[in-house]
Amino acid sequence: MRVLGIETSCDETGVAVYDSARGLLGHTVFSQAALHEAYGGVVPELASRDHVRRLVPLVREVMRQAGVSGADIDGVAYTAGPGLVGALLVGASVARALAWGWGVGAIGVHHMEAHLLAPMLETSAPEFPFLALLVSGGHTQLVAVSDLGRYRVLGESLDDAAGEAFDKTAKLLGLGYPGGPPLERLAQSGRAGRYRFPRPMTDRPGLDFSFSGLKTHMLMTLNQAGSDPDTRADIARAFLEAVVDTLYIKCRRALRETGFERLVAAGGVSANRALRARLAGLAEELGVTVYYPRPELCTDNGAMVAYAGYRRLSRGERSPLAFEVRPRWPLEDLTSG
Ligand code: KG4
Ligand code: ZN
Repeated sequence: MRVLGIETSCDETGVAVYDSARGLLGHTVFSQAALHEAYGGVVPELASRDHVRRLVPLVREVMRQAGVSGADIDGVAYTAGPGLVGALLVGASVARALAWGWGVGAIGVHHMEAHLLAPMLETSAPEFPFLALLVSGGHTQLVAVSDLGRYRVLGESLDDAAGEAFDKTAKLLGLGYPGGPPLERLAQSGRAGRYRFPRPMTDRPGLDFSFSGLKTHMLMTLNQAGSDPDTRADIARAFLEAVVDTLYIKCRRALRETGFERLVAAGGVSANRALRARLAGLAEELGVTVYYPRPELCTDNGAMVAYAGYRRLSRGERSPLAFEVRPRWPLEDLTSG
């Protein structure tokens, strides 16, 4: 089965063609980061308009890359939520129209389900069941995944998501948007141990997170310490260590409480090298295996949507012609079919 995947939930236009026998045939992401950078965050209306401009040419380009025409496509998958409603509607209507024109089925997929299945696109692919750490710009969740569509959220952020904490902290440090990658680079030149940030909610039981306090701590530290380049790097390092350590502590706790033997890390923040190194140590310590998508498939992309769509289409699922998008959509509302 060959599936075209379309992702437009936020500020990336992602398109891919996935073939169940041959794997990923083509995939490209157009990032709108430069468009939103001046505003320090995503402007929803600008995002929708840019998806309108980019999507159809990108579909053409990826199909050319994949060497396929409409007649070779067996289904079309699109992100139906959660995300920005206008941006979601662009992807959903283009996907629906293409599926109609080609006479094939269409499926609206859940963005976070697509993230957590993304490691299955790799050669070293996890099998169900597993524990998933979803760390993106909008979500921080620990999910017990027993099968496709069978998800139980064990813990999540009560305020800012991990990626959001990176973005807001990077802004305070005068770095660009999105903040994760430049903050990671700055932290690499920082010295360990000069500053120490709190590890929120790790001193009490449970698997929930809270990252909004780190921003305040960052602001206070910056105000007291000044902001010469070395100090900024040391502070960035302390922030990165606090986030990574917090995620490590909660993953460790969740693995020990549930007994899962596999850990999947996905979403934009899972591209972070410090986090990967820490989870590799955890895997060794507990004798579990950890799986990630390759870094370019950690952040938003069409490949994960094509793959999640393939899994659902191949079970006979279809979304109706009168499609809907869901800006808010709890992962636990999904079913196993
Ligand atoms: O999954 P994603 O592309 O979009 C959402 O679904 O939200 O995640 C984007 C988030 C942003 O907050 C970005 O700063 C963060 O992932 N991110 C990173 C890194 N690369 C992206 N955070 C830390 N380190 C990175 N290397
Ligand atoms: Zn995402």
